[in-house]
This record gives sequence, C-alpha cells and structure tokens, in this order.
Amino acid sequence: MKATAIAPSNIAFIKYWGVKDEILRLPKNGSISMNLSNLLTTTTVEFNKNFLNDYVIIDGNKEKKESEKVIKHLNRIKNLAGIKTKAKVVSENNFPTSTGLSSSASGFAALTVAGAKAAGLNLSEKELSILARQGSGSACRSIPDGFVEWLDGDTNETSYAVSLYPPEYWNIVDVVALVSTNKKEVSSSEGHTLATTSAFFDTRLDLNKTKMKQIKKYIKERKFTAFGELLEAEALELHAIYITSHPSLIYMLPESLRLLHMVKKWRKEGIEVYYTVNTGQDVHLICEKKNAKLVASVASKVEGVQKTIVNNPSQGTRLVNKHLF
Ligand code: PMV
Repeated sequence: MKATAIAPSNIAFIKYWGVKDEILRLPKNGSISMNLSNLLTTTTVEFNKNFLNDYVIIDGNKEKKESEKVIKHLNRIKNLAGIKTKAKVVSENNFPTSTGLSSSASGFAALTVAGAKAAGLNLSEKELSILARQGSGSACRSIPDGFVEWLDGDTNETSYAVSLYPPEYWNIVDVVALVSTNKKEVSSSEGHTLATTSAFFDTRLDLNKTKMKQIKKYIKERKFTAFGELLEAEALELHAIYITSHPSLIYMLPESLRLLHMVKKWRKEGIEVYYTVNTGQDVHLICEKKNAKLVASVASKVEGVQKTIVNNPSQGTRLVNKHLF
C-alpha cells in the first residue's frame, strides 16, 4: 500500500494553451514536448486504514492550496480503485516550484503513478496519462518516455500522450536559466481559461495543425535549425496570446527579456541556440548537446541569471523502491 515514483518535468515545443473542457482538462490543441532529465519530482504515497485524514507534505510544507489539489487528485485515484482509505503523500522537487518550470507536470505525473500503484491499480501507460492529465494537463506528457505527443482528442479516453521517440533518439539539450524564484501570480490553470479572451486565439488554433506536422517532421529528420526556429516562433506566439488576453498576462520579467536578446546575439556570434518560455519568468535555452556547456556558461554570466540547469531528454515517470518515508 506504499509506492514511490520519480517523474520528469517536460518542455513543450508546441504548447498547450486553452481548454475545451475545464474539468477534464481537454486542451484546445495538440502539443509536443520533451521530458527533462534534471527537473524531477519524487513522490511517495501510502494508503493506510489507520490514517484519519489525507496528509500532504510538498517540499517540507503543508501549504493549503497545493494540498487541496493533491487531495482532489487522490480522490480520482480512490474512485478508480473503489477505496475510501486515507493517504499520506510526501513529495519533493529538486527545483523551485511555480516559476514556470512545470512543477505541476512532474508533480501530478509522480502522484498519479505512485498513487495508482499504492491503491493497487494496475493501469496502462495510456490510462496513467489520462489520469495525470486531469490533475494538470501537461502532466500527461511526463508519463511516456522521451519525445512526446499529446493527442488532440475530444474525449477523456482519446486525450492522452504517447512517446514519439525514446530519449536517446536525439541529442538535444534544454539549458534552463532561472532568473527568479518568485512564484508567478496567475497559475496556468487560470491562464487557460483566459486564452479565448485574446482576439488572436482563433488564429493561433488555425495554425496549430500545420505546426504540429512541421515539428514532428523536424524531430524525425533531426533538423535542428528548422526545429529551433519553429519552437521559438511558437513561444512568441503563445506570449502574444498571454499579453492580449483580458486581463493581460505578462509572465516574463526584465531578466527573461534580457536573455531573449542575448540568444539572438549568441546566434549571430555562431552559437546555435533557441529559446522557449512557459507561464513564468525562467527561460529554456534549446541547443545541441555539443553546445550545452558553452550555452550554460554564457547564460550564467547574463545579469539576473541565478542558476542554470542542463537537461537531456529523459525517460518518463517510473516507480522506484526507495520511499521518502
Ligand atoms: O499543464 P498546465 O496547466 O500547467 O499548462 C501548461 C502550459 C504551458 O506550460 C504554457 C504549455 C505546455 O504545453 O506545457
């Protein structure tokens, strides 16, 4: 009745933004991502008849808002397993949470896999992905290995993620540049519901299918330049939706923008690197592995950058034997 899972966060190259169904978290469009080897959540779940309440500790804290989301997800797992037993959940991230590094993706993926196992469920990868999606949309992409597509289904059963290629398929790297550990003010869950208030949202949706095809082709053929140009354009397009929403969302800080300017400069100087940014201030610098050290080194010298974290493509969520309690 006790299980532990380790889950990677993931970075989307074609992003999920906007929901068809808020409760089920069915996205308005398909997305493509890569799992990240060094942004990890470890979670232990124990169901025990002696527990009087569900008990949640994340990074040593018992923060109410986060605990409520976890308990809601535990209830989904309990419903599937047909149990009412209370659980203890202890979760640890090896990186700052709620700054745009997708801790909800790794968090809900780890909780899903550890929780399902501890509840005695024997779920397939597809079923785990469907369940994780209901906790946090992007979490469904942290379940399968490597390079991942979240299929654009219209129902609970058809909206899940699949692995396109294993992690070793392509030697690209995501150097994350942390510019601040302040938490973002508007969560992505709230942001998704604002997406349709942007006058440009329908245009973004119209372009999605073509972009999905293109990015898959570039990954398949390992065409780094075309891939990088497309993922960067996609990130900027997403920010155009943020800033034209009502109320507007401005996630980037001056330090984030400084990095975006620097990336252009580095490319002119011959370092091939592209950026993408999510709902937060931290910037993901995407390059080939041969340039990873150089990119981390130049990025760490930019004013305002507190830390860099180098991520290789990674396997998805897995069970481990070492428990946190
Ligand atoms: O899964 P959520 O609700 O945290 O949304 C993720 C949204 C983006 O990170 C901006 C895009 C994505 O596809 O990961």
